[in-house]
Amino acid sequence: MRATCWSGRNTVQVENVPDPKILTDRDAIVKISSTSICGSDLHLYDGYVPSMTKGDILGHEFMGEVVEVGKGVSNLQVGDRVVVPFPISCGNCNMCAKGLFSLCENSNPNAGMAEKLWGHAPCGIFGYSALTGGYAGGQAEYARVPFADVGPIKIENDSLTDDQVLFLSDVFPTGYMAVEVCDIKPGDVVAVWGAGPVGLFAIASAIMLGAERVIAIDRFDYRLDKAREAGATDLIDYEQVSVPVVLKEMTGGRGPDACIDAVGLEAHHSHPVIHGYDRVKQAARLETERPHAIREAIMCCGNGGTVSIAGVYGGFMDKFPIGSLMNRSLTVKTGQAHVHRYLRPLLQRIENGEIDPSFVVSHHLALDDAPKGYEMFKHKTDNCTKVVLNP
Ligand SMILES: NC(=O)c1ccc[n+]([C@@H]2O[C@H](COP(=O)([O-])OP(=O)(O)OC[C@H]3O[C@@H](n4cnc5c(N)ncnc54)[C@H](O)[C@@H]3O)[C@@H](O)[C@H]2O)c1
Ligand SMILES: [Zn+2]
Ligand SMILES: [Zn+2]
Repeated sequence: MRATCWSGRNTVQVENVPDPKILTDRDAIVKISSTSICGSDLHLYDGYVPSMTKGDILGHEFMGEVVEVGKGVSNLQVGDRVVVPFPISCGNCNMCAKGLFSLCENSNPNAGMAEKLWGHAPCGIFGYSALTGGYAGGQAEYARVPFADVGPIKIENDSLTDDQVLFLSDVFPTGYMAVEVCDIKPGDVVAVWGAGPVGLFAIASAIMLGAERVIAIDRFDYRLDKAREAGATDLIDYEQVSVPVVLKEMTGGRGPDACIDAVGLEAHHSHPVIHGYDRVKQAARLETERPHAIREAIMCCGNGGTVSIAGVYGGFMDKFPIGSLMNRSLTVKTGQAHVHRYLRPLLQRIENGEIDPSFVVSHHLALDDAPKGYEMFKHKTDNCTKVVLNP
């Protein structure tokens, strides 16, 4: 089959690789109809997540048709149309039982490696480095889905297009969870750093969950336009104004009740000296992050508010404003999304017409054009917000 393979920093190649096979009774093989490129893939592409090997198959947002099932998978049949959540979760362990699916204790065969870096290991993730299990990803013609009796959700409503349900695999639940954990009350003000797909779904979710004012922060006009479409009530171009000053003005000096980081470890800073400081430290391996957005989100958050980190971080950062966090009673919420627990409720919201997730899609490409898709999505060219690959 054809598959998108990581082949070194800033290079992916679509190559011929062996077809996946059923390895355990709880596996299924899915023939992929749609798969997309995520901001998390960019961290692998750009070489910031360690433990990638040349030839690793990328991709963790995918859906398609079940073409084979293991003996232990009784809930799926050949021919079913499914969306597959990005965390690989057994459904039985202590963490899965608590609904903390991205912390599954049975799906990461390289837990020991992850423990060295993070103390304890998260779950396995499709196409997301050896640290999260070294599983082959879904930017391919086929994928093996472990624990297929637990993860995939069947899409029985044929009137829903792939673009409407594909993002249940990741960015819609991720944006939704980022807001849900903030426990939004009527009248609350939410600020979202980053108007990429995760930020856009956080904005739409904040409106669904009753926020009064939702402020989108980015520097690309075309993404801020999308944020408006998602429901943002206010837009801030951080290259034009001082974000802390404007957020204070908008909130009577208090700051937002919830500040959501939908940017992650490759944040940009418009001041070249500050950008350069973290860029150089990152290149020299003195820190692993470029934490401009998270620092700003903490400093801007109103007293007693919640800082919700959806953006991905890999290791250690410099100049973390712990004093601001502690002295002002802020709450931090974070995590890889526990996608499984949001699949049904969010599919229901799509079916009810409360949201049409396809609004984030800017490009459809053939699988063989994945390298072009990565370049456009990374550099935010051609008004790219989300690339869907159709194998
Ligand atoms: N927690 C999870 O489960 C999970 C799931 C999916 C993605 N993610 C992470 O979410 C983050 C966003 O993903 P995405 O797909 O939306 O990526 P993206 O690259 O499309 O979006 C990031 C956006 O942040 C903006 N940005 C950069 N620096 C900024 C700054 N200083 N202030 C405000 N905005 C800034 C960029 O212009 C861009 O629009 C990534 O770190 C990704 O790894 C996490
Ligand atoms: Zn993702
Ligand atoms: Zn588990």
